[in-house]
Amino acid sequence: MSELNTIALKILEKGKGILAADESTGTMTKRLEDVNVPSTPDNRLLFRETLFSASCMSECIGGVILYDETIKQESSKKDKIPKLILEMGSLPGIKVDTGAKILAGSTNEKITEGLDGLRERLKEYYKLGAKFTKWRGVYNISENYPSKLSIQSNAHALARYSALVQENNMVPIVEPEVLMDGEHSAKDCFEKTSEVIKKCFEELILHKVDLKGIILKPNMILAGNKSKDKISNKEVAELTLKCLKNSVPTEVPGIAFLSGGQSEIESTENLNLISKINDTNFIISYSYGRALQQSALKFWSKDIRNIEGTQKVFNHRAKMNTLAAQGNWSKDLEI
Ligand code: 13P
Repeated sequence: MSELNTIALKILEKGKGILAADESTGTMTKRLEDVNVPSTPDNRLLFRETLFSASCMSECIGGVILYDETIKQESSKKDKIPKLILEMGSLPGIKVDTGAKILAGSTNEKITEGLDGLRERLKEYYKLGAKFTKWRGVYNISENYPSKLSIQSNAHALARYSALVQENNMVPIVEPEVLMDGEHSAKDCFEKTSEVIKKCFEELILHKVDLKGIILKPNMILAGNKSKDKISNKEVAELTLKCLKNSVPTEVPGIAFLSGGQSEIESTENLNLISKINDTNFIISYSYGRALQQSALKFWSKDIRNIEGTQKVFNHRAKMNTLAAQGNWSKDLEI
């Protein structure tokens, strides 16, 4: 078994998932301001350290994706944050893209940047303790989107990123996110997501990426948030698995979904059903940002010194999702 495959399997072992705490300073500022907490480096660190030192880290969270600011910060015990995460029994990871910018040649679409100087930055992050990385490509969806140009150029960037990450002995999380925003049907989401994922793997293979040493982070197959086409959670699960079976090579060890704007309960319920009817060899789990942190952030914002109370809220959400990743969640476990 390759070293990268071992890392990928460790992150997702026993229903463990990934905490995506890699919001850029701009996004984190928005999240904090929404709950009336000033976005200072100290406050960003305090919230994140509160999560990273919660007890669920050892049982439920196999990896934490950090942002550049956080991986270089020190905990209240004067340890570097990756050390704290390792001591809690989880693995530190890092977001390495530099964000999605307007794609020249297309209206209303984006291309993710960050390839220039990436090899050097990866070496630095590896020294800081990162074991895995993340890069997110983002795709609008409607009648004419995503365009071939967006599908092709984002797949190319995801593949070049992945090859560089593996060269530097870390596991790349490959995240092609077809957004939930819009009036599109679940069928449209299924078709466009399948096309996006297939193109990503075509490029990953061309760039000689070892597919056993990656984790795929896709969206679930959902109807758009402004769509009239409502489908059941069971249909979401079935369509999502059908899409993955059609488009993901069997060598890939694990698939960890993003939550993408679903509510906490919705993303847990859908994950549970996907895992329950999972008839593939892929390990199925979660790599949630908002769906793991929303309630904890709201609770914390009322009293930012209430570490224990905040951790209790976070522990519950992580536990629910780890049960869901094993198909063992039910609604009555929610408090
Ligand atoms: P959400 O779960 O909030 O969609 O965030 C996941 C993520 O890492 C987006 O890049």
